[in-house]
Formats: sequence, structure tokens, C-alpha cells
Amino acid sequence: MATYDDTKMTKPPATVLVIFGASGDLTSRKLIPALCNLAEDDFLPENFIVIGSSRSKLSDDDFRKKVYEGICSYSRRPISSAVWEKFSKNLHYQPCNGEVLSDFEALKSRMQQLCAGQKEVFNYVYYLAMAPQFFGPIASNLKEIGLIEDVGSSSRRTSVVVEKPFGHDTHSARELNAVLRKSLAEEQIYRIDHYLGKETVQNILVFRFANGIFEPLWNRKYIDHIQISVCEDIGIGNRAAYFDQNGIVRDIVQNHVLQMLSLLCIEPPISLSDANGIRDEKAKVLRSIKRMTPDEVRRNTVRAQYAPGLVKGESVPGYLQENGVAADSKTDTYVALKLEIDNWRWSGVPIYIRAGKRLAKRVTEIKVFFNKAPDSLFKGRQRGDLEHNVLSIQVQPKEGMSLRISSKQPGPRFRVRPVEMDFTYDSSFGVASPEAYERLLLDVMKGDPTLFTRNDEIEESWELLAPIFEVWEGPTPPPVYTYEAGTLGPAAADELLQASGHKWSDL
Ligand code: BG6
Repeated sequence: MATYDDTKMTKPPATVLVIFGASGDLTSRKLIPALCNLAEDDFLPENFIVIGSSRSKLSDDDFRKKVYEGICSYSRRPISSAVWEKFSKNLHYQPCNGEVLSDFEALKSRMQQLCAGQKEVFNYVYYLAMAPQFFGPIASNLKEIGLIEDVGSSSRRTSVVVEKPFGHDTHSARELNAVLRKSLAEEQIYRIDHYLGKETVQNILVFRFANGIFEPLWNRKYIDHIQISVCEDIGIGNRAAYFDQNGIVRDIVQNHVLQMLSLLCIEPPISLSDANGIRDEKAKVLRSIKRMTPDEVRRNTVRAQYAPGLVKGESVPGYLQENGVAADSKTDTYVALKLEIDNWRWSGVPIYIRAGKRLAKRVTEIKVFFNKAPDSLFKGRQRGDLEHNVLSIQVQPKEGMSLRISSKQPGPRFRVRPVEMDFTYDSSFGVASPEAYERLLLDVMKGDPTLFTRNDEIEESWELLAPIFEVWEGPTPPPVYTYEAGTLGPAAADELLQASGHKWSDL
């Protein structure tokens, strides 16, 4: 397995990046702005060609104009005109219907023509920014036309990046994988989960393995419970067709939440320079999460849908009133779960997860609650019990970490009060964090799959959620609660924690 040297910031080798689905939202909102930000930092390959591709018939200039609007609206910082001018010269468009082989012949000629006259061999990266039913036909047509070469058959590296959702359940994920594997080796497939590109999520590894003080405490002896929240204030927008078929567990928990959870709970990998070191450990965590019995699903899961309400002072419709959502839809827009990792380190530590749309705030955070100190010394000197020490990893929007500790309140009496020791990226580093897609696109071009999800991780995630879907979609499903948009979710989610003497942290 290749190893990756992170100590030198070298540029990736010459690359042709073909984006399929280039007329879609992801390309203008995320991919092209990310590439321009990499260009702004001078991180792109010296020889770099981007070809946007979709069914629409666009000229190079139409495409450039369209994505430039995206950059103006969505780039995290302004892109200078000099950078855009240089970048856009290498930005092209080639129409292609993923199911028509002759379109791939035209694409191949275009790629050859654009690379002609260059001494370097260009690596090929294909980004499939589209629905999974097109992954198979595109990969197979690329292979047939000779645009995907076998690993080791030439000095060119070919990689294919696929967006989520990777399947709908274990069975469909396996099928999708089998389809891709007909044309590609596992090491050529980059399954993207953009959460792994977020600075704060990568920092989980640094925090755990570059600090000596936490590791001895990082286990069931000292940790009382863990909470992971992915709360969004937005609704489903114009994505009803996708969302109503999937729901929040498939949209957020199967991928983003379980990836964060596995990083938080892994054993130290043998090395951070070997992509499989971390991925092996993550897969082990996912494999160790207890599969729920039907009774446990009823006790340990709560699902709900948003009803009309007020978000940031504005009235918003309920889920069932959103355009494109079936009037009798049972799709979950909120979920609360209690999980347990059944291994030596974590057995008996409850892990609570909540994720939802149209909640009061946009907050993604992980909170680790340490066991309380015995309060015998402080009896009568404070109101109520001593509090937990809580380590908070704030993924967004306020990126940083804090540790809640008990402290003496100033004054003549021995009163104990919790205070926060905190660090934010803004104040400590003084620079805005790059967007997740910047890091991930750069990693694909360098051939580093560490921050991409391996197939076994995906299968394990689907498998551990399967018992939940079975009960929810079965003949006697548990209720789908409702919650008013702009609130913190349904009361049943609070009761889930109260049953074990816990309480959701404030957002
Ligand atoms: C996507 C989901 O994967 O992640 C969206 O499909 C969700 O529904 C988004 O809104 C959240 O990403 P972020 O980076 O804004 O937290």
C-alpha cells in the first residue's frame, strides 16, 4: 500500500479532471469554487485541465459563464481576476450522455486534443456528480473506450470519485459496488463523504493522537456518554424527489454521523501515512456497533417530521406541505438514536445521535461527557450535583473545541460553577478553514484515499442500520412524531435520554 508524505506540500501531478453532471448544483456550488480556491492558493497541478460534461449542449464559454456565477455566489472568498483568467483557460465543456458510447469517443478525442503536445502523462480523474444509477453506465463506457486503464498497466493513474448516497441499504450498496468493480479496481474508487474533508473532523484524529492527556481517559472507565448532533435549520428545499426516498438516517446518519463516530472511537492506527491504517480501524468500530433487536429499535430510536413553524423569524411550511412530498409520507426528517459500541474500550457507554432538518439552529457538534467527580466534598456548597466535564468538538458553524470544567465562583463562599476553556479556529489560527471539497479534490489528484470511505465501511454502516429500517418499514412501525419547525425536535427524543438519566446538551 502506498504511503503519503504530508511533510512536503507538493502539487499533484498533471491531471485531467472530468466532471460528469457539470450542469448540476454541486458543480457550481462546491466543485468549481473549491478548485478556484485551490488555484488561489497555488495548490493545483502545473498542468491541469478541467472538462465539464453533461447532456446539455453548452459551449466552453457558456460553461465558463455559468460556473463563474457560481463562484461569485458560493466561493468562500473572492477569487482574483488574474486567478480566474488563468484557471478558466483550462476549463472546457464536452456534452456527453452517460449511456451513449459514441459520446465517450468524442470525449476521448477532446481529452487527447487538450493534452496534445505536453510531455507529462496526465492522470485522469472522473468525478461522478450525479445520481448513482448513472455510475455503472459511465464507468463501463469509460472502460470500453479505453479511458480507464487497469492499475499498473501504464504510468497513468485513473480515479473515479462517486458522490453519496452509495446505495439505499446493504443490498443496493453491494450491487452498486459490484457494478463499479466490473470496470474499476477498489483503489481506483474514491467514495466521497464531504464531512471527512472538514478541518474540524480531521482534527478529531490530531486531537486524539497528538495529545497525551486524553488517551488514558478515552474509554468506558472515564466516559459517561457521548452525544453527536447534526442539526440544520434548512428544510429540504427543492430536493424532495431525493429526500422523500431517503430520509435523514440515509441522508446524514449512514454517512456523515457514522464517519465522525468511527473517527472519534477508533483504536490508534499503525500509521497515519497508510490510507488503510485509519480505514481498517474505522471499519472495526462500525463492525462493533451493536445491532439492535426489534424491541431495542422501538426503545432506542425516535423518528419525526417537521410541522409548519418559525425559523429565524420566518414562517416555513411543514414537511408534508413541501413541494414534491407525498401527502402521506412517513419519511424521517429528524432522528434520535441510542447506540452502543460493543468492544473492550466502549462497552456500556451510550452514544446518542440526533440529526434533523428545520431545527432551531445549524449546529454540528460532538460532546463527550466524562464521569462526574464525587460531590461529597461540596455538599451544601452548591445547588444540585457537580456537573460532567464535557469536551465539545464543534464541527460547525463555530469551528473549535471547548472543555467544560468546574471552577470556584469568585466570592467569600465555596460555590462551584462550570466554565468553558475554549479554542476557536478563527481566533487561534486567524484564517478561515478551507471548504471540505478543496482538501478532498486535492487528495484524489494526489492519489491519497485516506479521507475517502472504503467499501467495507459503507457495507458495515448499512448493516448496522438495517434492523432499524426493518422495524420502521415493517407491518407494525413505531410512530412518526412531529415537531414544530424552528424547535429542538420532538419531546420523545428528550424522553429517550431521560430513560437513562441523561439530557441533550443545549445547542
Ligand atoms: C449532505 C446532505 O450530504 O450534507 C444534505 O445530503 C445536508 O441534506 C448536507 O444538508 C449538510 O452538509 P454541511 O456541510 O452543510 O453540514
